[in-house]
Amino acid sequence: MFDTATPITPAIGIEVSGVSGAQLASAEAAQWCRSALDRHGVVLFRECHIDDGDLVTLSRLLGEVVVPPMGGGEDHPEVSAISLDPAETVLASYNTGTFHWHIDGATDAIPQLGTLLTAIEVSTEGGDTEFANTYAAYEALPDEDKAQFADLQVVHSFATAQLLAYPDPTDKQRASWERVPTRVHPLVWTRSSGRKSLLIGATAGEIVGMPPEEGRALIKRLLDWSTQPRFALRHHWHRGDLVLWDNTGMLHRAIPYTATSRRLMHRTTLVGEEAVA
Ligand code: OGA
Ligand code: MN
Repeated sequence: MFDTATPITPAIGIEVSGVSGAQLASAEAAQWCRSALDRHGVVLFRECHIDDGDLVTLSRLLGEVVVPPMGGGEDHPEVSAISLDPAETVLASYNTGTFHWHIDGATDAIPQLGTLLTAIEVSTEGGDTEFANTYAAYEALPDEDKAQFADLQVVHSFATAQLLAYPDPTDKQRASWERVPTRVHPLVWTRSSGRKSLLIGATAGEIVGMPPEEGRALIKRLLDWSTQPRFALRHHWHRGDLVLWDNTGMLHRAIPYTATSRRLMHRTTLVGEEAVA
């Protein structure tokens, strides 16, 4: 339905320009987005300037929308602000965690289906977002790796992810991280459709049954493999850009920006539809 839709690379991303936020708040647009997400993993609407109401409408047409327990907006509790500025969000101090490759909700039984992020204000330095397609990365693995990885299980924890951002935590920080339960997921996430992605990223600590060092080394090798330029894209934000990603296979991270940067994103997430299996 969008004439200007252009794939960004063969492995990841499709870009659409000349569309308004209001046009996106329709069943046809949502249907187009769902199939574009399946095929391309990341969908970018350049400078569509979607407002919070239309963002929620589009999100609801895409699936069930998460209402975050903390950090939602007053008028639209589904919309959270992503910023390093404590004046913008109570969760500001956790957002440096986004500087490391991750999948949203990887410590949940059912990670989120997708995320929608729109730029209200951009950073003059840093603040791009990178994405890497672990469906494509899995597909390109040699067969002997696929066979070796088929039954591996990975321990995911919020503390593992936060330790990357705060390598020297206080007892209070550690205690707050440890309130989030640890979760064991298969390394290879197989969908009912048969598609497979790698479930790795900042929350991935160890591999069950492997010496910790060996598990960490394998996770690092797979992260390096998955984030190679041929599976990845880097988005440089303009005000009003909207990016949607299929969170079941798109690793992502923010390029570091500072707490005094004006960068402010509005975000919704979609409830996951398939448990990791
Ligand atoms: C997120 C996220 C990255 C960014 O909102 O889940 O990881 O660039 N954001 O802000
Ligand atoms: Mn994220």
